[in-house]
Amino acid sequence: MMKLLKAVVPVFSGLASQTFASLPPREIIQARTLEEFITLQQNHKLQRQETNRSKLGPNGRRIEELESSEIITADLFGGSPGFYHGVASGDPLVDRVIVWTRYTPVAAGESVTLELRLAKVDPNLAVEDHLDPNANANIKVAKIETSEDSDYVAKVDVLGLESNTHYVFAFTDGKTSSEVGQTRTAPSMEDEVDEMTYAFFSCAHFSNGYFHAYDVASTIENIDFWIHLGDYVYEYGAYGTYATDIPERRDMTLPSWEMVELQDYRNRFATYHQWDEGLRNIRRRAPVIQIWDDHELTNNAYGQESGPVGAENHQEVCSANRTSTNEDKAEAQCDRDEGDAKIRFNEAAQAYMEWMPIRQGPMMPGVLEFTSITQVIEWGDLASIVAIDTRLGGRSAEPTIADTFTPFAAATLSNLNISAYYDEASDVRQLINVIAQSTKAEMSNPAYSMLGEENRNLILDTFESSKAAGKPWQIFAAATVMGPQVPINMDKMSDYAPAAFAPSIQGFTDAVLTDPSAFLLRIGVAMDVSGASFSPDAFDGFAYEREILLDGFQEKANNPIVLSGDSHDSWAFTLYEKGTLEEGNPVAVNLGCPGVTSPGWNGLLGDVLTPLSQALGGALDVHKLASDTFVGRNSGMKYNDILRKGFVAVKATKDTHTAEYILFEPEVILTDYDEAREASGKITAAFTCGVSLVTKAEDAGSLDAQEDCVVTFDSTRHLVWDIPVPISGDGSLGSGKSLTECGFNACEFDTTDEATDEAPSSGSKKFCGFVSL
Ligand SMILES: *[C@@H]1O[C@H](CO)[C@@H](O)[C@H](O)[C@H]1NC(C)=O
Ligand SMILES: *[C@@H]1O[C@H](CO)[C@@H](O)[C@H](O)[C@H]1NC(C)=O
Ligand SMILES: *[C@@H]1O[C@H](CO)[C@@H](O)[C@H](O)[C@H]1NC(C)=O
Ligand SMILES: [Fe+2]
Repeated sequence: MMKLLKAVVPVFSGLASQTFASLPPREIIQARTLEEFITLQQNHKLQRQETNRSKLGPNGRRIEELESSEIITADLFGGSPGFYHGVASGDPLVDRVIVWTRYTPVAAGESVTLELRLAKVDPNLAVEDHLDPNANANIKVAKIETSEDSDYVAKVDVLGLESNTHYVFAFTDGKTSSEVGQTRTAPSMEDEVDEMTYAFFSCAHFSNGYFHAYDVASTIENIDFWIHLGDYVYEYGAYGTYATDIPERRDMTLPSWEMVELQDYRNRFATYHQWDEGLRNIRRRAPVIQIWDDHELTNNAYGQESGPVGAENHQEVCSANRTSTNEDKAEAQCDRDEGDAKIRFNEAAQAYMEWMPIRQGPMMPGVLEFTSITQVIEWGDLASIVAIDTRLGGRSAEPTIADTFTPFAAATLSNLNISAYYDEASDVRQLINVIAQSTKAEMSNPAYSMLGEENRNLILDTFESSKAAGKPWQIFAAATVMGPQVPINMDKMSDYAPAAFAPSIQGFTDAVLTDPSAFLLRIGVAMDVSGASFSPDAFDGFAYEREILLDGFQEKANNPIVLSGDSHDSWAFTLYEKGTLEEGNPVAVNLGCPGVTSPGWNGLLGDVLTPLSQALGGALDVHKLASDTFVGRNSGMKYNDILRKGFVAVKATKDTHTAEYILFEPEVILTDYDEAREASGKITAAFTCGVSLVTKAEDAGSLDAQEDCVVTFDSTRHLVWDIPVPISGDGSLGSGKSLTECGFNACEFDTTDEATDEAPSSGSKKFCGFVSL
């Protein structure tokens, strides 16, 4: 997402951007000494194996800062090999689902064979017998081989399953076992589906808090699947200043530098899964449908086939180096040369496909050479879901106004007379209008695309068939926000306050807005009065394409639901015909989830809202006032929360699609799992349902707030959560189909093949405990 403050800083700092003539090979530039430089030139690969491995102390703190990422092996876990990164499942179709784990071997180099067991959840079977081959004759067993080529992930596409059916699964190496995962297949058109329950997420910055959002969602009653809209991990190095509220408690991120290379990306995924039990809990609870946004690659990435390839946070050549101060690294946004963006994006995509339980989709033109994350999921006769990459396949560079705020600084820097901003005849307003005209023209330039024609057609064709089949809901998992939106106009806040508070609020905002340094807040006023939307990185920056999509939705869908993340705050919009800011004919809804932990507008407005709250003696919820101002000034916007983190839980029936914003108070995000659960007295941290918004099937684009929330949460873990996985204990594995190359691309395990299963060879039955971290 765009960083608001940073957007304006260049106007003042006047820093000349440094330019470099030529680009040395990336592996060579990593050298810190002349000696290393020579060795690297001679044999890059050998040298990389000789550099120090990452070492973490028992508390997970780094005890050494090192050169480059190495594959994570058991020495990080006291020397014991095993399953330290949980299990997962995803991309559920009618007859198949992907299951996943990551094995941590003693040493890199050798391949390992693991046993996968999968069983249908059967109410007639004792719970503890489900994964016991001696007690359940219907377990599907496969032996799967994985290696360092895919970072020791084990990713299996299990085929030949029954539709609309729940399964449990686990992996074992014969000595220890993974946690137990629960998953399910999608219903077919013949399965009667009255209800569908899901949750969606985005933006989980590890060092900004705990992932209570995932943990709470893993207790949603009857959750069918979850959708991740990206920013699942963040690329930044530990030197950065972005989103690190609890570095002292979450200072165990690997690598400590910005992730640039394949193993960097893998190790960042490993950090998230190793240290956050909320994330492991949602992954083992239900299958995921997911896409990346930009941070799985790097901030504000783009990489169309024939267009430029790059990103806001990709510095081919870096003006800082590893010995630079943190300040210099942060200023340079890098700590080493980041090389060719194409190579970086392909390596990032490889790590993503290794660690995420999704299937390779149809290839799309673009910078990616070998994979696509496109997922199309049909959920019986209820819904169709399309999840698609919006960053690399069909994405052009963003509008050349890389941020929409800066141009307005020309009008707002020295114009402190806010009344004149509203006066069409004033000089400042005329200047504002000219700037607004040019940014709008730029943001609706047909040359810019986020999806491209091929992806747009895939979405629209899927929706058309869905409508033809009579399904009420067409869901587009879109990464960024689609609703058009102007920034907050603080001068209008008093309009949305109770009358008794209005004069003091206006007095306060008058004083703030006429302070010469408050040019950014004046930009908010200028953009509001001129109807200038602000996020060039989201659909606002691709208004031409948004219009094509909305035209298509009108014709080809029953009820389009666009799911968005990226912004870190909660939003809900009715999308009008043509994507206008002004009220029009409703076409679709756009639901934007808050970040799991990443900071949103409050990070910017907090400096004003906190003193305002104090000035009012704490008598008014000023964050709610800011949200009411956002909603009040944007006709399509129906809900907003700028303070709290969380996720959106959804229950859909044939008649209604109900979206509930599940929110956490800021201090809860900073509290670890044990403390937060103790404080709530429940199995998860305390949360509230911020709003329940109903879209009626016969009323496309409708969003009506209802009084009571309908999604319910389990108060105890399911019985199958901790069922035993009996194993030989001596390392021997049960017989089953042998599969190889179960990594990046997932091997296929057809469960309808002739069963080769036998009971495990070893006689001694041993129940193994679960890995606890
Ligand atoms: C590895 O670290 C040690 C100190 O912990 C240092 O003496 C040694 O030179 C390092 N080796 C390399 C290859 O950087
Ligand atoms: C690393 O960057 C610093 C400035 O941040 C500079 O002073 C130093 O010379 C650089 N070192 C190398 C090896 O380029
Ligand atoms: C501020 O702007 C308003 C509206 O254009 C104008 O009437 C007023 O005279 C201006 N005030 C000053 C001090 O310039
Ligand atoms: Fe984000």
